[in-house]
Amino acid sequence: MQQAVSAPEPATTTLGIRQDFPILARTFNGHPLIYLDSAATSQKPNAVIDALADHLRNHNANVHRGVYPLAAESDAAYEGARKRVASFTGAEQLSTIFTKNVTEAINLVAYAWGRANVHAGDAVLITQMEHHANLVPWQVLCRERSAQLRYLEVDEHGQLSLEQLDSELARGDVRLVAFTHVSNVLGTINPVAAMTARIRAAGAVSVVDGAQAVPHMPVNVAALGADFYGWTGHKALGPTGVGVLHGRTELLDAMEPFLTGGDMIASVEAQSATWNELPWKFEAGTPPIAEAVGLGAAVDYLGAIGMDQVRAHELALAAYMHTRLAEIPGLQIMGPEDPEHRGGLASFTIDGMHPHDIAELAGRAGVCIRAGHHCAQPLMRALDLRATARASVGVYTEPWEIDALIDALIAGRAVFGT
Ligand code: ALA
Repeated sequence: MQQAVSAPEPATTTLGIRQDFPILARTFNGHPLIYLDSAATSQKPNAVIDALADHLRNHNANVHRGVYPLAAESDAAYEGARKRVASFTGAEQLSTIFTKNVTEAINLVAYAWGRANVHAGDAVLITQMEHHANLVPWQVLCRERSAQLRYLEVDEHGQLSLEQLDSELARGDVRLVAFTHVSNVLGTINPVAAMTARIRAAGAVSVVDGAQAVPHMPVNVAALGADFYGWTGHKALGPTGVGVLHGRTELLDAMEPFLTGGDMIASVEAQSATWNELPWKFEAGTPPIAEAVGLGAAVDYLGAIGMDQVRAHELALAAYMHTRLAEIPGLQIMGPEDPEHRGGLASFTIDGMHPHDIAELAGRAGVCIRAGHHCAQPLMRALDLRATARASVGVYTEPWEIDALIDALIAGRAVFGT
């Protein structure tokens, strides 16, 4: 059990690991690279880059197929990565499935669970704060099954209402509720355990998108009580091309496969096939072997820091960013005001400046922030916005980088004369 960690002073917080990330030594236009787009993808420490390269250089072979020693090494590395990933998130190995990304993890549930269990007249409930990965698969499912897609609203503080969840569940037709753990636009941290308990009690299934949570705070999927919990490696210091789905074993056991082909079968006859055991039933074809090994190194790296420390650091950074952004006239920040209720990101607008101009001008000063709809167009419409600028931190971020963002925004305002 880790000790509770109190947040360090906002203006001085550091994990002292920036030098572990070689890309952060780059400069642009004579400015150090200030990477404040970790919600889009994280940068990678040497430990991950080296693990990936070492696997490809020294241990590469296909998995689950070879009997020679090199293949056994690759098998051990791949399954070892699963063990480390499962242990990192408090899940079981057999119900920890490697996917391509969180989008594929959610599609797996939408196809393999949804097509069998959602019928005409049923409802799927999602929230207004979902990004497209946790929205479009449910639209397609509902259209195919003549089911209704309904939304929990986001209030003026960027939060969901448990009362609205209760009243939606009381209608008796909700088969599945899908929601994000942390919003990629508002930063809102949703009360996952309280929501999954209500969803379970109503006889529905919960699907949680943890892409913006797992890299930034302690996550124990068993304690959260989600039936399905998906996340992605590349936002968690790992490589692109590997994601994770944790599922409740009895649900996964009862499901038909999502993708079919090699590796996911037990035996194949001319006209039929039987399925492999969990987790391999859901891993058709050659999986992302080196990428999973890289993700194993990433969770080891995060685990060595301690996720309580990571959260404390990012909470302090978020508080600092909020305070400093609020100094800029005409700047509005979306989402909850209390940093305790939000992850380490801030979406904002500045009067008189288009978010793309804000991001472009910041980029000239070496500051990387994202601008646009953040793959969450329905949320943007609900907020009556077309786009925002978004700054998001990671384990490697330091307060002086927030200062550089503020300087770049002030300089940008001057260019626009606002
Ligand atoms: N959903 C990812 C983001 O917020 C791509 O940037």
